[in-house]
Amino acid sequence: AGDKDTKEKPKYTVAFEATFAPLEFRDEKTGEFTGFDIELIKAIGEVEGFDVELKDMGFDGIVSSVKTGNIDIGASGLTIDEDRLESVDFSTPYYKAGLSVVVRANEDKIKSVKDLKGKKIAVQIGTTGSKYAKTIEGANVTDFDQVTDALMEVKNGGADALVNDNPVNQYYVSKSKKDYKIVGDILESEYYGIAVKKGNTKLLEKINNGLKKLKESGEYAKLYKKWFGE
Ligand code: ARG
Repeated sequence: AGDKDTKEKPKYTVAFEATFAPLEFRDEKTGEFTGFDIELIKAIGEVEGFDVELKDMGFDGIVSSVKTGNIDIGASGLTIDEDRLESVDFSTPYYKAGLSVVVRANEDKIKSVKDLKGKKIAVQIGTTGSKYAKTIEGANVTDFDQVTDALMEVKNGGADALVNDNPVNQYYVSKSKKDYKIVGDILESEYYGIAVKKGNTKLLEKINNGLKKLKESGEYAKLYKKWFGE
């Protein structure tokens, strides 16, 4: 109690869904969670004096868990959007992404999103990609819990395309070029933010200050280069 407590570093739970390389995934060799988001939130904790406890969970449960306070922080390539802003608060944007379309490597009819009308599309449940795909005329959209399963469905021919965040598509496609390719342009710009419970300004300030410090020190740029190679 008292003095002792104030010296203890607070520990915050951080939720993400770990089939989203290179942002959050399980390192096959070590079995540990890793990726840009994971290293970023740990680095923020280091400069702001808090520890993190990592929690892998279904993507569609993250925002609601942060909303109820069951989880302190959502760091999962979460796009800042109108709907989510009703339930949680977001940090300053920390990454610019966008959606793109993945098809089988030998696909020759689908050259852009325009060719997806009436097609079978695989997506990850609860994502902006899922939302987008459902606006495509006549599309038959199937939600998967994991991005890796949605990709497998494309490979197997159960779906014609995957609509998902481009940095993640780039990563998985580069790992199996014989199976997949990306077609067309980036569909729309999206910005990722780190989510906290509405009104938790104390924690949000720590996160925003931490982000600022990491940008100023060059640590952010180092992590970016490590995981996105640019
Ligand atoms: N950016 C997209 C969204 O917010 C997809 C994020 C999926 N993240 C994940 N770790 N699976 O909906």
